[in-house]
Amino acid sequence: MAVLLTGGAGYIGSHICIELLQAGMDVVVIDNFSNSKPEAVRRVQQITGKKYPVYHEDLRDRAAVEKIFAENTIDCVIHLAGSKAVGESVQKPILYYDNNLVSTLVLCDVMRDYGCKKIIFSSSATVYGAPEQVPVTEETPVSADTTPYGKTKLFIEYMLQDIAKSDPDWSVILLRYFNPIGAHASGLIGEDPAGIPNNLMPFVTQVAAGKLEKLSVFGTDYDTPDGTCVRDFIHVVDLAQGHVKSIAKAMENSGVFIYNLGTGKGYSVQQLVDAFQQANDIEIPYQYAPRRKGDIAQIYADCSKAQRELGWQAQHDLFEMCRDSWNWQKKNPQGLA
Ligand code: WQD
Repeated sequence: MAVLLTGGAGYIGSHICIELLQAGMDVVVIDNFSNSKPEAVRRVQQITGKKYPVYHEDLRDRAAVEKIFAENTIDCVIHLAGSKAVGESVQKPILYYDNNLVSTLVLCDVMRDYGCKKIIFSSSATVYGAPEQVPVTEETPVSADTTPYGKTKLFIEYMLQDIAKSDPDWSVILLRYFNPIGAHASGLIGEDPAGIPNNLMPFVTQVAAGKLEKLSVFGTDYDTPDGTCVRDFIHVVDLAQGHVKSIAKAMENSGVFIYNLGTGKGYSVQQLVDAFQQANDIEIPYQYAPRRKGDIAQIYADCSKAQRELGWQAQHDLFEMCRDSWNWQKKNPQGLA
């Protein structure tokens, strides 16, 4: 059983590699290392004691993708590769549509040619836009009223659904991630953003490490219990295990299956900051700041479908997420060398 991971050297991809290898599967990675480092691969190999092929290629390069399928028997693809900075996508929409959509088309075209018709796609809760009700279920209406980044996630969902409609052999699993944080318990791999982090947890850990002076909590006047935004933070190892379960589903079924991957619990930005300080006995200097453009007040998942159909449920609580994020940052002050 061999699984191709596109973007398999990234934060989420490297955690999935560990879970797949530990479940006895073979792994093949393609990554252009635009937002990841080869050191992540070495660390995964150190943790698991297993080596696997890594192709330093761009998914938009059809010949390169064909070569991977010619050289390996791929049973299933986990498609994670793509650009993911929300703000940057507003500035550089052409880059985002090219990088995220063209790559997916090339990938699917080659998969079809090689008779590999099982794909698990890394989608996002961003496809729900600003939901009218929480928690969101997989039936909650999706919205294209987001950013170019968010639209690429939604368009890819549509593309994959159309492909599955056209050929009943395809198995398409759309995983809508909520807010992944945390790191592998070893502290050897974790999130390693380039430059100043956009996302909350890497910003918090870099403030804790003294690399950044102070956290700004964006918005205190939202219609939420404490006025700060509410999100569904999920431990990246739980998220990775959701992929292992999804592979079993994809191998045994055809058609389209959509799952929310979160914990089902909403915590506010303030609660996360408080939990981080308590879990790690460390003070985070922070200030209240105006709302960040484009943020929605609150979103968290109803994950009962994944529990019912995949037998999957997040195991780690917020405390463990905060502990593991800090453990990673503390042990790797410069990130992955
Ligand atoms: C969470 C909350 C911020 C930074 C985005 C994408 C999503 C997914 C993850 C990516 C918000 C607040 C943040 C800071 C803060 N995609 N915040 N100070 O916006 O929920 O989701 O990232 O790869 O698709 O939309 O995550 O971590 O950026 O923000 O107060 O310095 O933390 O305003 O309320 P978000 P986030």
